[in-house]
Amino acid sequence: MKTDLKIAPSLLSADFGNLERDLAKVNRSDADWLHLDIMDGVFVPNISFGFPVLKYVAKLSEKPLDVHLMIVQPEKFIHEVKDLGAMMMNVHYEACVHLHRVVQQIKSAGMKAGVTLNPATPVSVLEDIIGDVDMVLLMSVNPGFGGQKFIEHTIDKVRALRQLISRTGSEALIEVDGGVNLETGARLAEAGADVLVTGSTVFKAPDFGEMVRLLKQGH
Ligand code: DX5
Ligand code: ZN
Repeated sequence: MKTDLKIAPSLLSADFGNLERDLAKVNRSDADWLHLDIMDGVFVPNISFGFPVLKYVAKLSEKPLDVHLMIVQPEKFIHEVKDLGAMMMNVHYEACVHLHRVVQQIKSAGMKAGVTLNPATPVSVLEDIIGDVDMVLLMSVNPGFGGQKFIEHTIDKVRALRQLISRTGSEALIEVDGGVNLETGARLAEAGADVLVTGSTVFKAPDFGEMVRLLKQGH
């Protein structure tokens, strides 16, 4: 059992007609972070919510904000994300031509820097950046939608990333996003994940707080 496993509920699966109520559920639970998915309809085939909505969300959230940008040219929005009071800004490897520069800019703005990999992007592309990042976010579904089926190969990627981190002495956390439930969550924790993002599993559960507690137990 992993005792320090972090859980980050994803707002994408909340009821937007009852946002205040659903944010209160997150605040009251043992969740560690609030995960926010920003989509642009270009990098991914969907559009979620933008900064006017997120400002309101940030005001109501008592949990640190873990912002996941599924957009092209994410560096354009570093200051907007910082203004939300975000703790972590995750950008996609596939969306950044000058990833090293973007990572440094995020850190200079006073946030932690996360790099996200799509399911088809191998962990080996991180070799030359792993020492500079605070977190790697492995997508276990193709980004764009909640409620998709977990891609099994992610378990091997978590193991490969854990090895890369140990070999290089990096302190990066490993976060996994997509299709996390009690069964896949336990196996991800066992493989070496530090943070689990979870949308539909927690928001569709009859008892939000209880589901967070169970996921956090990691078994
Ligand atoms: C998908 C998003 C996820 C999504 C996860 O593109 O990045 O954060 O909300 O939802 P579930 O847990 O339902 O797969
Ligand atoms: Zn996400």
